Amino acid sequence: MKNFTFQNKTKLIFGRGTIARLADEIPASARLMITFGGGSMRHNGVYDQVAAALKGRQWVEFWGIEPNPRVETLREAVALGKEHGVDFLLAVGGGSVADGTKLIASAIRNEADPWTIVRNPSLIGEMIPLATVMTLPATGSEMNAGAVISNDQTTEKFAFYSQNPVFSILDPETTFSLPDNQIAYGICDTFVHVMEQYMTTAGQSPLMDRWAEGIMLTLVETAPKIRADKRNYDAMADYMLSATMGLNGFVGMGVEQDWATHSIGHELTALHGISHGQTLAIVLPALLRVLRDQKMSKLLQYGERVWGIGAADEGSGCGGGSGTSAGDFERRAEAAIVKTEEFFRSLGLATRLAELGVGEETIAEIERRFRERGTVIGEGRNIDGAKAAEILRVCER
Ligand code: NZQ
Ligand code: ZN
Repeated sequence: MKNFTFQNKTKLIFGRGTIARLADEIPASARLMITFGGGSMRHNGVYDQVAAALKGRQWVEFWGIEPNPRVETLREAVALGKEHGVDFLLAVGGGSVADGTKLIASAIRNEADPWTIVRNPSLIGEMIPLATVMTLPATGSEMNAGAVISNDQTTEKFAFYSQNPVFSILDPETTFSLPDNQIAYGICDTFVHVMEQYMTTAGQSPLMDRWAEGIMLTLVETAPKIRADKRNYDAMADYMLSATMGLNGFVGMGVEQDWATHSIGHELTALHGISHGQTLAIVLPALLRVLRDQKMSKLLQYGERVWGIGAADEGSGCGGGSGTSAGDFERRAEAAIVKTEEFFRSLGLATRLAELGVGEETIAEIERRFRERGTVIGEGRNIDGAKAAEILRVCER
């Protein structure tokens, strides 16, 4: 296990009816701005719950932070916040609202343009505190410092890191209004967050491995229950907590991480607006195929512990023999990748670029961008433009 420092400053407030606790958590003297997305919070009753909880207080509202939040929109929010001398932000909605609000919090007491801050976080000076009411389990943004911001003008999408929310309220009942596709993207996103921290090489930390496998198994068990009934409170609660625990630092202590699937996926979103979770369902299996030998020890462990592909199957496959031959390892690794793909397809997601009308032109553009930026990503820092193109060709059709 590598040395690490762990701290997570977010207070997690979880369960039915917890939005009512907002007034206890936001200082009475706060000059508050509440940020929202495109309107779902008006339709599902969450806005009314927030307003009821803060009755008697004053606040400014900013509506319109879109999925894959655009810096162009966030500049408007920063201007509004500056105009009103806002000193506390509450994000109400999905990961995009939370992420966008992290940039607002970093830009409101700053003269630098918000995009400059995204590209150069060392410019972040004084930040104002933020909190969230998270209504879409996926990003973990409610309990981490990350944010991913898009720029329409340059068709780019980049992550930056600033601060954790001081508190986050998660009421699983707020998720009952989610459309099926957003649930599918969210489950896939959560699964891949865990994979990005887990799917490297075996033997780094048995504890991290078991926690990561626990989250993945929970998602595999819970997804069919949610597909059968998305108002199943307990299933939604487990999924929601899985999303938070998947990207709040708990499964990544002292171990190598990868994150190349995310970096390649962000390019697909930047160029085509494809939803984040959907990009991951396409890229991850292809990346595992291309990097199979490098990740073999962990692929075998994953296959055995998450999908039950292991000792019982040894010797029965086309490789035959003892189950320890190179051919048998390859068979088991491929079986684990196929299971992963089948899981994503069971959620209703595409796993090939052609299904979304994306082809060679985009692959060439991503290769060009990575080369131009000098991008090298992945646990082994060996995924450059050419390797990314190789991965994308594996999932092309
Ligand atoms: O905009 P509104 O009208 O609110 O509707 C949203 C949006 O259209 C809707 N929605 C949210 N909660 C709902 C709901 N509809 C009905 N009922 C509810 N309870 O869902 C749509 C998608 O929302 P969005 O916030 O975009 O989804 P998600 O939470 O998946 O966030 C995706 C963004 O997060 C970034 C992604 O790149 C993407 O930009 N990520 C952030 C991370 C982080 N901060 O650590 C890590 C992730 O890897 C990810 O990259
Ligand atoms: Zn993600």
